[in-house]
Amino acid sequence: MHSARFDLASRRDTRRLGARLASALEPGDLVVLAGELGAGKTFLVRAVARALGVSADVAVTSPTFTLVTEYETAKGTLLHADLYRLRDQADVSAEVARLGLRDRRREGAMVVAEWAEGLEGVLGPADFALKITYAGSNARAVEITSARPLA
Ligand SMILES: Nc1ncnc2c1ncn2[C@@H]1O[C@H](COP(=O)(O)OP(=O)(O)OP(=O)(O)O)[C@@H](O)[C@H]1O
Ligand SMILES: [Mg+2]
Repeated sequence: MHSARFDLASRRDTRRLGARLASALEPGDLVVLAGELGAGKTFLVRAVARALGVSADVAVTSPTFTLVTEYETAKGTLLHADLYRLRDQADVSAEVARLGLRDRRREGAMVVAEWAEGLEGVLGPADFALKITYAGSNARAVEITSARPLA
């Protein structure tokens, strides 16, 4: 396991990290994003999507109600899941299993998930786990644990 911590002094740093993560992503990868409301999870997913070539005309927003949004990218399908709405449900594992994300990973889709703590049993192992914390109004810190290093 690799771990690293970065200071994200501004949104620009977060965008850069997103681009770096995008270039590290491989088909079937799972990225789990942890952090409080407003920490910057969706912001980072947007940066990843843009770096993968998702046009600025396509909104990348939190799929809280739909749970999963699908984007076609230069590297294949990117699925953005936001499991916030399910987090306190007794049957969260069954609900998440129903989304079929593990099978989509097997087919090569890259999955980036917010609020997916404790769900690796249904999602499969994460390749990158990021925890974003506040460090001031526009500053954040991120801890990354990953199976392979972020190039
Ligand atoms: N360095 C930074 N990195 C990321 N976001 C930042 C940074 N500085 C300020 N922000 C702002 O913080 C907010 C992050 O919101 P975002 O929706 O990404 O949070 P989230 O973690 O997805 O929250 P939620 O749990 O509600 O989904 C945005 O308004 C963004 O502009
Ligand atoms: Mg979000």
